[in-house]
Amino acid sequence: MATRIARAVEPKRVADLTAREEEVFKRARPRSVELWKEAKEVMPRGVPSSFQDSKPQPVFVDGGKGSRVWDADGNEYVDFHNGFGVMAVGHAHPLVVQAVADRIARGSHFAQPVEEVTVVARELARRFHQPQWRFGNSGTEATLDAVRLARAFTGRDRLVKIEASYHGHHDALMVSVEPDPSRMGPPESPASVPQSEGIPRALVELTSVVPFNDLDALRAMFKAHPGEVAAVVVEPAMMNCGIILPDSGYLDGVRDIAHEHGALLIFDEVKTGVTIGPSGATERFGVIPDLVCLAKAIGGGLPCGAVGGRADIMALIDEGRVSQMGTFNGNPLTMAAARVTLLDILTPSAYAQFDAMAEVLQGGLDTVIAEHELPFHVITMAARGGVTYRAERVRNYRDYLTIDKAPAYLAWLYQCNRGVLMAPGAEENWTLSVQHSENDVMRYVENFAAMAGELRA
Ligand SMILES: Cc1ncc(COP(=O)(O)O)c(C=O)c1O
Repeated sequence: MATRIARAVEPKRVADLTAREEEVFKRARPRSVELWKEAKEVMPRGVPSSFQDSKPQPVFVDGGKGSRVWDADGNEYVDFHNGFGVMAVGHAHPLVVQAVADRIARGSHFAQPVEEVTVVARELARRFHQPQWRFGNSGTEATLDAVRLARAFTGRDRLVKIEASYHGHHDALMVSVEPDPSRMGPPESPASVPQSEGIPRALVELTSVVPFNDLDALRAMFKAHPGEVAAVVVEPAMMNCGIILPDSGYLDGVRDIAHEHGALLIFDEVKTGVTIGPSGATERFGVIPDLVCLAKAIGGGLPCGAVGGRADIMALIDEGRVSQMGTFNGNPLTMAAARVTLLDILTPSAYAQFDAMAEVLQGGLDTVIAEHELPFHVITMAARGGVTYRAERVRNYRDYLTIDKAPAYLAWLYQCNRGVLMAPGAEENWTLSVQHSENDVMRYVENFAAMAGELRA
């Protein structure tokens, strides 16, 4: 990032604009308010997943097509949320619609293998340089399976994860996902904090936590637990607290340290997967892990998950030593959607288009930030990107905690009120689709410019 001038934003100005935008938000969404109230009668927090309940309230969606979605009140948005990064194909892509319609007309579920499983596994093997694959239905299942494989392969129980990485909602990795500062411990050796009640303490104690981008802390962790660690689980570019990029050489270092101590490296590419490049972080950062977890965008909008790995590790499943199973694994509809997504939609030209749109966003937003001397910066990687509401690069969770969330929340409201839907949670990144146009992404830039003008007015 080039050195540039950045001045703090005035908190009172942010608060005033936020109050105004919240009013506008509520006035335009009476039906969402009503639906939320009704849902709360039968559902905790009125949503099927707690992620969907965020300030000021959930936006109930009616449908989507291409780059657009419409909410229950009829408001139209350019979709930058894209279902938490799933819909890189865009909504109701004709090829996905056709593939799923063809498949469902011949039956939607058999719990028997179908031809497509091999086609999809072969394509994932090609992209991610892992010879063997198994399927599931979510990112949670993918990381759960990877952890079990690593523990079985090494005969060890301990896991090492990065502070503030989210890997799904199973017990082993729901540790220090967003730990409360009062409980998180010292920065160089963070405490292991359960993310939810109901997680057995014995499991939490088996998961050690280290800061991102800190190889010394990782070395110290291995030294403190000699011969105990089965795997280091890493989201190669962290994407659940804004976007945090790995330092140059960090991922290679993690792999080497893990291997030196007889542990495996697991990449959680559920978010980075096929969105930051055709072969995700594996390709972008040039490090091949021992096991890789995928989900979200690989399934073109159907529930999906996959774990891929080295032949000698995956052989544990062949040998019946590791159980990897599920009624819906390799579901025909998911496989039909994944096949067309990977082979016919997310092609090299799709990635060229993502790169072109990323350039428009990066250039446009950088210009606005520089013109208004805002203490923010922008990261783009193909279909993914986001604004970080801090001038300096964020390297780990402790840096992330220093970000003032108020301008991020204002930006979320501002975009939502002007026809751009962002993922719930002010620090979420965006996901573009192959059906987004330059005009679509310019809408985000124009809204951002208008907000910048008002912040400095
Ligand atoms: C990096 C990462 N891993 C795993 C998961 C869990 O995936 P799922 O919600 O499909 O279980 C998520 C979900 O957002 C994620 O961001």
